[in-house]
Amino acid sequence: MRKRLAAFCSHGGSNFAAIADAAQGGAIPVDVVLMVHNNAYAGAKEKAAARGIATEWVPRKRFADDAAYATHLLEILARHRIDLVALAGFMQRIPPQVVERYAGWMTNIHPALLPLFGGPGFYGMRVHRAVLEAGMKVSGATVHLVDEHYDHGPILMQRAVAIDDCRSPEEIAARVLVEEHRIYPEALGLLAEGRFRLEGARAIRLS
Ligand code: GRF
Repeated sequence: MRKRLAAFCSHGGSNFAAIADAAQGGAIPVDVVLMVHNNAYAGAKEKAAARGIATEWVPRKRFADDAAYATHLLEILARHRIDLVALAGFMQRIPPQVVERYAGWMTNIHPALLPLFGGPGFYGMRVHRAVLEAGMKVSGATVHLVDEHYDHGPILMQRAVAIDDCRSPEEIAARVLVEEHRIYPEALGLLAEGRFRLEGARAIRLS
């Protein structure tokens, strides 16, 4: 059964585009039917329009509290009959009510090898700067299920990249992003096919 997916984006949406292209090209059993963004001018908006995908603009500051924000998000997700939520460069905390509703069916991508260089404060170029400053020779990308903690939850897929020759955070970011675009659609395809079994903190990939 194909899963109906909503992507949540704040900025450019290159991961969203990679997921949508894999889905529309028939590579994964997913229909990308919605893109939710919190910034009015998120570049992801044009990428959604170009692919005929509906969008919803949901700025957090419009809501008095988490409960009202969650109610609105859940109403949108129900209206679009969403099975699977993919956070793709979404810089706003998802309220616990929504995380709970989509437990096991909400994913995030992080541009480092979690649990290294993750958690509050590790976002955008800060992640890659910290990796560079630590003298790491590899970095990479992580797709994980979302739980109530930042950058936490069972890891579905990771891919390492060599960064020995990188001289700037931007260089690392560009190298990692290439792998993000590969593993995010792949992990979502496997999740949609029911090819992970959860065992405590681990997601075991079934063959
Ligand atoms: C990616 O590096 C992603 O891992 C991080 O934010 C960036 C978003 O890029 N969470 P894009 O909007 O998908 O182009």
